[in-house]
This record gives sequence, structure tokens and C-alpha cells, in this order.
Amino acid sequence: MKKLFFTEKLLDWHRSGNLREMPWKGIKDPYKVWLSEIILQQTRVEQGLPYYEKFIKKYPDIFSLAKDKDASVMKLWEGLGYYSRCRNLLHTARYIVQHHNGVFPQNYDELLHLKGIGSYTASAIASFCFNLPYAVLDGNVFRVLSRFGGIDIATDSTEGKKVFTKMAFTFLDKTNPGAYNQAIMDFGATICKPAAPSCASCPMQHKCKAYLQGKVNLLPVKEKVILNKVRWFNYFIFSLNNKQLVQQRVIKDIWQDLNEYFLIETGSNMHWTHESIMQIIKSQLNIHSSDIKGVKFSAAAPQKLTHQLIKGWFIEIELKKCPAYFKNKKFIWLSSTQMNKKAFPKFINQYQENDAQK
Ligand code: ADE
Repeated sequence: MKKLFFTEKLLDWHRSGNLREMPWKGIKDPYKVWLSEIILQQTRVEQGLPYYEKFIKKYPDIFSLAKDKDASVMKLWEGLGYYSRCRNLLHTARYIVQHHNGVFPQNYDELLHLKGIGSYTASAIASFCFNLPYAVLDGNVFRVLSRFGGIDIATDSTEGKKVFTKMAFTFLDKTNPGAYNQAIMDFGATICKPAAPSCASCPMQHKCKAYLQGKVNLLPVKEKVILNKVRWFNYFIFSLNNKQLVQQRVIKDIWQDLNEYFLIETGSNMHWTHESIMQIIKSQLNIHSSDIKGVKFSAAAPQKLTHQLIKGWFIEIELKKCPAYFKNKKFIWLSSTQMNKKAFPKFINQYQENDAQK
């Protein structure tokens, strides 16, 4: 059957012009495809690649991943962000080992039922590994399709989802869905980029509605404007005999299951002073100035997360003895070697790295 213009040009481009080498390309092992796609969710290829390689080296198959400890897997994920991806990865690895003898389901609907696998990842696995006709649809694909078709319907609206899903399936090469999906992902990332797209090198340029109408930079359109909220994290680094006080974040919030220092979150900037620090640790923790050897504090480097901006302070407090409040199972005292084995949010790692350089 004759291919549509868009499909043909895209596949030609992929065969001849696209020189993007990636270790998971052309691979049909669902474990590797799944791992790479989970790592690449909300992550650029350049950032995700070293993580993919570390994971494949340590866990060459689903069995080795499934049987390792949560903390070790989290430690390997450290720095990639969106930690629920890592928790779901482990959950699904263990589920597949226990319920499917370590063999991935080979159809879209069953893939979609696995934790952490949404329609994008299910389509990627189904098309790359099992040659099934499912089109991937994510920010990259919305952008390519909305520009090529000159469509200004919001991609996050109900109507937009319907229109773009239909268009994605129309353009999909049903005889070679894996190559087509890989091509559109790469095309969106390297040619039809969000800012400064390379229209001059685009093989679809003369039929691209957005290009012809001078609207490339106006598409795609989004409906919902997401507001950022600022959160203030004040981390108290209590130390005693060269060990630091650490706790695990158990609450359902950012950084769940990662480790952190003693935290006081506030609604605004505290502009700490020596006096206000003494006051809060006395009122909240019953620690007195006579229990303290020294105090040092500085503002943290802000960290931008999706929809949240984390700002705050690091307050280092060297203690003379362990306060009663910290004699609780939820707190642990760790040496720097022990700290290195635990996973911390980037917000904290950044501070530790800067501090070590001083
Ligand atoms: N982004 C998500 N999946 C990808 C893949 N397989 N290749 C390139 N970029 C991607």
C-alpha cells in the first residue's frame, strides 16, 4: 500500500538522515526497551543514557533487578528525579517475575495494566518488540503533528487528545510501527524541536501547514496553564561524633523513599539568624544552646521541579550529645561512608557537593 507523504518522508529521513545512535535502538528485548522508556520519561536522552547503561550493567535482566533491595535500586536512580518511576519499575519487575515467570506480556492491553506503564510506554514496547500497530503520543509527537497539520486545538484538551490520537494512528506505518515510532521520537527531538526548530532541514517543510502559515513557533497550543508553587525547605544538619542525623521521607510527596536531614517546611522564607535558629530548635526539639558546639547556615540553591520550586536553607548544628527527641527509630546517625550508600534528593546532594568543595 502506498504510504502517506508524512509517513514516507519521515521513514526516509530516519533511514538516511537520522544519525542518532542509542544503545536501545533496534533492540527487541522488552526488558531493555521498557527500562529505556521508563528512564526517558521526563528525561532527555543525554541525561538518561548513562543511567540506562548503569542499570543494564548491574541488572542485565529482569530477575537481577527484581531481586535487589529497594535502597540499592534507588541509589542507582539517584539524580534522575521523578522517583515514583523507580518505585514502579521495581514493583513491575517483581510482578513480572512472580506472575509471568519473568516474561513480559506481549499485547498492548496487558502491558498497559502494569504499574508505571502508560499508553506511551505500552505503545513503544508493543511496536518495538512485538511489531504491533500502536502509535506513540507524547509532547514530541503532539508538537510534530500539530505543526505539520497546522492544528491549534489544545493538545491537553479532550478534543485535542481525540484529534491527535486519530492523526497519530493515521500516519503510523502499520507494517513497520517500531521504526516509525522511533523515527517520530527522533524527529521531534532533533528537527521539530520546541525552540528554534530546524525547518530548513525538514523533509516535510513544503507541506507543513505551520511552516507555510508562519505559525511554527505558535504550535502546539496548551489549554491548562500550570502555576508553580514555591516551597520552603529548611534542612537542619545535626551532627554528632562525625555522624549526621538522617531520616527517610515516607510521606506521599516529592522525593518519597529518599533520605533527608531533619526538615522544617515553612510557608515563606525564614531569613534565619542565629537567634531564630536557637529559638526554633528549643521550642520544637527542646535543644538548648548548652547542647551545641557550633552553628553554620546558608541559603540553598533552589531546585525547579515540575510545578514546584524548592527553596530553603541548610543549617548545620554540631551537637555535644544526642537530644532525647532524636532517640527514635525514625532517625539514624550516618557516617559519610554510610551516607554515600543512601539516595538523597538533588537539592541535598548539591549542598553536600558544594560544601565538600569549600
Ligand atoms: N524518548 C523516549 N523514548 C525514546 C526513544 N526510544 N528514542 C529516543 N527518544 C526517546
